Amino acid sequence: MGRIPLLLILFFATNSSIALAGPENLSIFDPVSPAATPIRDLFMLVFGVIGIIFVITEGALIWSIIRYRAKGDETKEPPQVYGSNPIEVAWTVIPIIIVFTLFLVTTRSIYSLDMQEAPEGALKVKATGHQWWWEFEYEDLGITTAGELHVPEGIPVFVELRSADVIHSFWVPRLAGKIDCIPNRENHLWFQADEVGTWYGQCAEFCGSQHAKMLIRVISEKEVDFNSWVANQQLQAAEIPTEANGKETFLSLACINCHNIQGVTTVGGFGPDLTHLMSRDTIASGAANNSTDNLRLWLQNPDSIKEGALMPNMMLSDKEIDALMEYLQTLK
Ligand code: CUA
Repeated sequence: MGRIPLLLILFFATNSSIALAGPENLSIFDPVSPAATPIRDLFMLVFGVIGIIFVITEGALIWSIIRYRAKGDETKEPPQVYGSNPIEVAWTVIPIIIVFTLFLVTTRSIYSLDMQEAPEGALKVKATGHQWWWEFEYEDLGITTAGELHVPEGIPVFVELRSADVIHSFWVPRLAGKIDCIPNRENHLWFQADEVGTWYGQCAEFCGSQHAKMLIRVISEKEVDFNSWVANQQLQAAEIPTEANGKETFLSLACINCHNIQGVTTVGGFGPDLTHLMSRDTIASGAANNSTDNLRLWLQNPDSIKEGALMPNMMLSDKEIDALMEYLQTLK
């Protein structure tokens, strides 16, 4: 009995230290979505019940150690009880009631959060886990993006979860519980960000060497900001001729086998869509900020940011990298 509460205390302590880490708040204790609040409440209930059991049992243990420790006085031994029906019934029935109550409350929470169909007025998104990045498709809006999921504040979001390769798990702790993305199966999850902000998440199922760098950012914004984001994402890639003619370079390299750019090339799809690459704050699924230096480093050697990334080192010359940088930075 003593070990489980201890683990929970450790978990609690670890989680609150994450909560103190500032913007990267991943704490389940700080929900901003009606899909996450019941999970926090259920945890607090279970934690409270087992906390009381822990205090009572450990308290009784410590009390009896002190009260009846050997003092060479035989008369102070505790009275022994043999075959007491009331006591045996009590320590059988009380745990059964506790376990059954927790079971019912848990089941009720699971069913209340489970949603197989999108509710009225929900934004529908398909999230696909890839080694090691997230693809987000808004089919109704004709948008495909990666790593960063934009949603309007206060509107339910219904996510269909799939996997392109191995099992991943979609987990944004402040918005919803975690649900696995399983090959050849579709799972569902919903959340509703009730505040404007950036909510961080993480793939929660070990899926290979770069599992830890398979991050999720959910950006919830005012509806008007979301709509302007949508309007921009729906545009095809802008034709901005660059001096180094980076578009020709891009089309001449193996980049096009994996990456799509709407209005330019759509034979890829294995890697993230780059049509609006520069509208994202991060690259490599949140592994690095989308800065000029990082993007250049990524083109030179993806392993330097994400060791084992499935984007190969293309052994590009400085001239090719200059041209690609110039082109990619027009994709806003
Ligand atoms: Cu994907 Cu872990």
